[in-house]
Amino acid sequence: DIARLSGQSFVPDQDLMLGGGSNLLFVGNIPGTVFLNRIRGIHVVDDDGDTVLVDAYGGESWHEFVLWSLRQGLSGLENLSLIPGLVGAAPMQNIGAYGVEISEFLESVEALDWRSGKTVRFSHPDCGFAYRDSMFKSVHPDRYLILACRLRLQRKFVPKLSYAGLREELNTMGVSVPDAGAVSQAVINIRLRKLPNPEDIGNAGSFFKNPVISKDQAELLRARHEGLPVHETSKDQAKLSAAWMIDSCGFKGYRQGDAAVSDRHALVLVNHGCASGLQILELSQKIESVVFEKFGVRLEREPRVVGRTAMHR
Ligand code: EPU
Repeated sequence: DIARLSGQSFVPDQDLMLGGGSNLLFVGNIPGTVFLNRIRGIHVVDDDGDTVLVDAYGGESWHEFVLWSLRQGLSGLENLSLIPGLVGAAPMQNIGAYGVEISEFLESVEALDWRSGKTVRFSHPDCGFAYRDSMFKSVHPDRYLILACRLRLQRKFVPKLSYAGLREELNTMGVSVPDAGAVSQAVINIRLRKLPNPEDIGNAGSFFKNPVISKDQAELLRARHEGLPVHETSKDQAKLSAAWMIDSCGFKGYRQGDAAVSDRHALVLVNHGCASGLQILELSQKIESVVFEKFGVRLEREPRVVGRTAMHR
C-alpha cells in the first residue's frame, strides 16, 4: 500500500524504520512512530535462459528468499544463507558473508523517498555499495524506505569457495562436487556452529566491522602481532580481523553483568538476559579502547544504535 504510505511523513531523529531489527541496538525509547516494513512478495521479472531477474519485496525474510531462489534452481545467494533480517535491510548494509556480498547480484533497488513521497529506482552504481555500507546507510540515513530489491540470479551454478572454512565444511559433509544447495547447507552448518543464534541469545551478529587500513600499516601490525589475519582488499589496502584482535585482548567470553562477548565468536556481543542497550554499548566502548591501546586501530561499530538517549547525545 505504497500510496497510503507515501502520504505519511517520516521525522528523522524521532521515527524509526524497522526491518527484522537484527542489526539494531536500542539504548532508549523511540519517541515517534516505528514503521515496520512488512511488504511481501517475490516475482520473476525477466528470464533470458541463463539468468533470471527477480524482485523481492522488503518485508520478506532474507533467508526464506535465499531458500526460495535455491528451490527455483537459481544460484548466487547460497553463501548468504541464514543471515538474519529482512530483504529490505540487506542492501542498506550490503550484507556479506563467506566471500560474497549482496551487491554482486543487485541490479537496482526501489525505495520510497520520504522527502518527496515518491518512489525512486536506484541503479547499482547509485547505491554506493562498499564493505558493509551503502548510500542508504551512510549518505542518506532515514531518507529512504527500501521497498524492493531487483536481483539477477544465475541458472548455471558457479561455486564461490574462497572462504577456506567453506571448503573444509564441504569436505566434512563428504561433498566433493557441490551444488548450490550443498554450499547453502555448509554455510548454515558453519553459522550454527560459530555464531550464537539470535533466536537463543540476543545479539546483532558482528558488532564491529573488520578495519580496512593501508597495506603498509597492516604489514607493520602483522610483524608486531604474529598470527594477525590480514586480507588484501585492493592494491594498497588491507582488511584486519577484528575478531582476532578482540580475542587476543582476552575478551572472548568476557562478561560485564549480562552484557558479554560471545564465547563462540569474539566479534559478537551477546545479552545474557537483562543487560540494557547502554550496558552493551559501554562494553563495546571498553573493547574499542583496549583494542586501540594494543593495536592502534579504531574499531568501527556495525549495528545501528537507536533510541532517545542516542539521539540526544
Ligand atoms: N577469530 C578469532 N577469534 C574468534 C573468532 C574468529 O581469532 O573468536 C579469527 C580467526 O582467525 C578467523 C578470523 O578471525 O579466521 C575471521 O573470523 P570469521 O571467519 O568468523 O570471520 P569474521 O571476519 O570475524 C566476517 C563477517 C561475518 C561473516 C564472516 C564470514 C564482518 C564484520 N563480519 O566475520 O558477518 O559471517 O566474515 O564471511 O565482516 C555479520 O556481519 O553479522 C557477520 C556475522
